[in-house]
Amino acid sequence: MKLHLGCGHNYIEGWVNIEGPRDELCYNDIKADIHARIEDLDYPDNSVDEILMNAVFEHFPRHIAIMQLRKFYNWLKEGGKITIVVPDFFATVNKLKKSKSPEEQQFWWRHIFGPQDTITFGTHYDGFDEKKLKYIFSIVGFAKFICIKEGKWPNLRFTAIKKKPFLSENDACQNIINYMALYEAREEAGVAFAEWMKAMGLNIEQKPLTLKFKTQNQSLLNKIKCKIVRKVKNV
Ligand SMILES: C[S@@+](CC[C@H](N)C(=O)[O-])C[C@H]1O[C@@H](n2cnc3c(N)ncnc32)[C@H](O)[C@@H]1O
Repeated sequence: MKLHLGCGHNYIEGWVNIEGPRDELCYNDIKADIHARIEDLDYPDNSVDEILMNAVFEHFPRHIAIMQLRKFYNWLKEGGKITIVVPDFFATVNKLKKSKSPEEQQFWWRHIFGPQDTITFGTHYDGFDEKKLKYIFSIVGFAKFICIKEGKWPNLRFTAIKKKPFLSENDACQNIINYMALYEAREEAGVAFAEWMKAMGLNIEQKPLTLKFKTQNQSLLNKIKCKIVRKVKNV
């Protein structure tokens, strides 16, 4: 089984083409096999051969994105692969800098921040380069990466494989918690972090109010005393 997530107007034969719920889309002429939010999908572990997301992954807020990646990892069979195409952040910024008019610039702003053609699905929540993609895919367990720079619209076509040794659920969740803690940078850290954990289905014990502001470094992570208590499978 091959899953094409966020297919838009690009129906691919031989794949299960999945697009958001009809009443949340601004286009009514999209052909899809399934209409559902990607976050609500669930497939058995080790049941999927391939996943494709073309211009979709950047539409997830970071805490959702990282949990979805681990979910995809679980769905994939051994040797299964996932390919995402996302805006190449730094290459797009270069295009923006070289633009000669506000109109031209607007095109590249849109490439970074999203078309905003639907309220629910039109916004880009995060930016990527090859290093960051390798990092986030590896902390959920993926290995063997191929990253191709695509030219005209500066994009990165990033492919990762699920292969042995497999990363346990517990280790992946701990990695994800550490990764999300890197984004927590306020003086009384912990509040946003706790909200993310809740939204991610990760129930953790922590002492957020004992945190002191530090730059995004290991000492911040060390002070977040967190332990995975429960992992809800489908987030
Ligand atoms: C920029 S379009 C890309 C469409 C198509 N993949 C292509 O390459 O032409 C992003 C698509 O992802 C869909 N999408 C974004 N977030 C989604 C989500 N959470 N669940 C389902 N679909 C989503 C949008 O509705 C939109 O059709």
